[in-house]
Amino acid sequence: MKFSAIGFTAALAATASALPSMRRANNYAKATARVLMGNNGHIYIADYLPESKKFEVTLKEESIGDPSWMAFAPPNRLYAVDEFSSAIYYYELDLDNNTLEKKAGQNGSVGVVHLEFNKDKTRMIGSAYGNGTVDVWNIENGGLELVKTIKSDGSLGPNEARQAAPHPHQANLDPSGRYFAVNDLGTDSILVIDSKGDDYKKVGSVKVEPAGCGPRHGVFYPQGSDAATHYIVVCEITNQVLVYQVKYTTEGLSFSKTQTLSTYGDAFPPANATTAAAGEIQITPNNQDVYISNRLSGNETDSIAHFKVKKAKCGTTSLEFADTVSSGGLLPRMFSLSTDAETVFSANQDGELGLAALDIGANGKLTETPIATLAASIFGEAQFGPQFVLQIV
Ligand SMILES: *[C@@H]1O[C@H](CO)[C@@H](O)[C@H](O)[C@H]1NC(C)=O
Ligand SMILES: *[C@@H]1O[C@H](CO)[C@@H](O)[C@H](O)[C@H]1NC(C)=O
Ligand SMILES: *[C@@H]1O[C@H](CO)[C@@H](O)[C@H](O)[C@H]1NC(C)=O
Ligand SMILES: *[C@@H]1O[C@H](CO)[C@@H](O)[C@H](O)[C@H]1NC(C)=O
Ligand SMILES: *[C@@H]1O[C@H](CO)[C@@H](O)[C@H](O)[C@H]1NC(C)=O
Repeated sequence: MKFSAIGFTAALAATASALPSMRRANNYAKATARVLMGNNGHIYIADYLPESKKFEVTLKEESIGDPSWMAFAPPNRLYAVDEFSSAIYYYELDLDNNTLEKKAGQNGSVGVVHLEFNKDKTRMIGSAYGNGTVDVWNIENGGLELVKTIKSDGSLGPNEARQAAPHPHQANLDPSGRYFAVNDLGTDSILVIDSKGDDYKKVGSVKVEPAGCGPRHGVFYPQGSDAATHYIVVCEITNQVLVYQVKYTTEGLSFSKTQTLSTYGDAFPPANATTAAAGEIQITPNNQDVYISNRLSGNETDSIAHFKVKKAKCGTTSLEFADTVSSGGLLPRMFSLSTDAETVFSANQDGELGLAALDIGANGKLTETPIATLAASIFGEAQFGPQFVLQIV
């Protein structure tokens, strides 16, 4: 009798107690969580073993260029940007055998820093910070074909150092699956792209205030619904988080701002407000807690701030700063939630810990002492800690 890779794993699980040695040999297939990471030059997978309070690196492969962002379509399709060139790569990631094989590479816009799928994972949106454009890829049937490039052509923000050109930073698929909201750090705007009829047309653009805030990453709210009521976006330059009420209109999406607050919380300002640069934002699947990473704070380590989501009777939603914990290192460009939403995986490009698993406790509060860690030194010299982290299994 022949087992498929998945069947084999399931069969092993069913008889695991009778097969201790086999179980150990196949330990990587049994880990609670497998966490994908990338830094300049490498793609990694670490198994997260919370019972033994550790991470174990089970895959380390050289990548082409800088895979500072990746997107994974189960069971085996992995897409990676090369932030330093125009290329996007498609790899086959065999999680049973721990192998990574390059299947295709194509040039699009220069300097893509984020990838987002449409709902059925037939299209992929690349936000090209470097080129001020948004690429649409056809990824059907294992293909990788650039079908459209949309120019972000809004007027530039006032910060000459950071806003000398348009810089699309991230595309977010709205919960209805129809629209993408693209945060452009260079033009202080959110572009709205309509995917209806496979058109991928820019149907609107919202100016984000204050001028010079540099919108970077955002989340739609509520998650898991059919329609968004709010959009929450982090401004990298001014270290603010903005809450917008969202409405579906005949023209697309409309945004009206209802709240502006510091990503640090009023009581914990950065030691160096000049360098401070907010990074990532995530919301829990139950829509009750929002986390934001704060970088280049000038403090001993950088941090992840926690906000409670407050729902008023009139239907508006607001954020309330709750607490902040160390990210475990410096430059937490990205962090993400475990698929069971019980843990935050904090990735630091620099500092002591390259990766830290932080427990999400009662009321969404993060526990500062990590459950498990990987030292930054595992990833190489200073500033080579992971730029990207995502649980994929
Ligand atoms: C991957 O592993 C499965 C069983 O776990 C095996 O049947 C298959 O041949 C392996 N594939 C490769 C390419 O080694
Ligand atoms: C992208 O274009 C450059 C310059 O033409 C070329 O050298 C490179 O091979 C291309 N990359 C891919 C992935 O096609
Ligand atoms: C960016 O894209 C435009 C087309 O929109 C192209 O003409 C230009 O050369 C690109 N610039 C860079 C830096 O890649
Ligand atoms: C960072 O440093 C500033 C200034 O020293 C201080 O006020 C703030 O509380 C520190 N932040 C944290 C999270 O400790
Ligand atoms: C903040 O960082 C900048 C750039 O590194 C530095 O010039 C400045 O002295 C720092 N300010 C404080 C208050 O540490």
